[in-house]
Amino acid sequence: MTTESRLQELESLRAAALAELDAAPDADVVEAWRVAYLGRSGKLTQALRSLSDMPIDDRKAVGAAANRIKQALEEGMEARRSALQSAVVGGLAADQIDITLPGRPVDLGRYHPNTIILRKILDIFVSMGFQVVEGPEVEWDRYNFNMLNIPQDHPARDMFDTFWVDWRDDKGDMPMLMRTHTSPMQARIMEQTEPPIRVVVPGKVFRYEATDATHESQFFQIEGLAVDKNVTFANLKHTLYEFARRMFGDTRKVRFRCDYFPFVEPGVDMSIDCFACDGRGDDDCRICRGAAWIEILGAGMVHPNVLRGVGYDPDVYTGFAFGMGLERIAMLKYGIDDIRLFYGNDLRFLKQF
Ligand code: DAH
Repeated sequence: MTTESRLQELESLRAAALAELDAAPDADVVEAWRVAYLGRSGKLTQALRSLSDMPIDDRKAVGAAANRIKQALEEGMEARRSALQSAVVGGLAADQIDITLPGRPVDLGRYHPNTIILRKILDIFVSMGFQVVEGPEVEWDRYNFNMLNIPQDHPARDMFDTFWVDWRDDKGDMPMLMRTHTSPMQARIMEQTEPPIRVVVPGKVFRYEATDATHESQFFQIEGLAVDKNVTFANLKHTLYEFARRMFGDTRKVRFRCDYFPFVEPGVDMSIDCFACDGRGDDDCRICRGAAWIEILGAGMVHPNVLRGVGYDPDVYTGFAFGMGLERIAMLKYGIDDIRLFYGNDLRFLKQF
């Protein structure tokens, strides 16, 4: 082979190598390229090695050319590497996120005041050994009234104007209604279980009622029931006194007065001394408005007729029951003056809790 053709061969090697290098898309391809041309058995390395077989004059010219090409390839490789590197860095720069930019505030959700108060109330009773049970919102007339010692013609039915449901059982004589109180669960639970019973029943109740600041047609109640041998009125007082103090403060006093509910005997309503004016009954007190006492719930000893109705012997078992309105407790606790706010979905109200 002539010197001329060797030089030409080297020249086309150079051209091909540089063209390939130019097209290399990333550092890995550049590295493969380096091995292919400049590596131990790379194409240029082999060309340099074959110099030793050449006559001395050829060797000088070809060797000098080969070394120039080697240098050109090495420089080309460095240039390509740094070009690729700065393209990567440039890409990062274009994509970068400014982490110092303040985020857009996300509106945090929160619990409805009813939920907050309900959990508080349930916690208190659970810690005293009560179980939490729920029941149906659509109820048989039988449980809502009859089994609670409120027979068909009883005037106490007038206390519960309500929504009737157009549905009758097999016998055709037992209409259904939206339950007017959570008390029907007393009968349902006793029917299904033997004493001892200690339950609290939170749930929604319904009344056909004109709404105003203290009346809603839907609201929540929490029922309580404890039945066992030797349950007395003292147990009722103690349990509810403990509840009142944990809910409204250690220094609360309680007051029981006779009241009438067909399913208890004796029946009482319980008041606490006003926590806002500390029971003084200040004329301008925003909570009691001078009354000093605030009614918070109804209660009593389970009526023997109710016990008999579920098959309990009233000479063996006695029990106490109570029922309170959830919104009323929340209104007192938070100083809310209109029950309609609970269901108005007004964020200005809801955001305050
Ligand atoms: N169910 C009654 C009502 O809605 C509240 C009540 C009073 C429940 C006395 C009771 C009770 O368990 O003993 O007005």
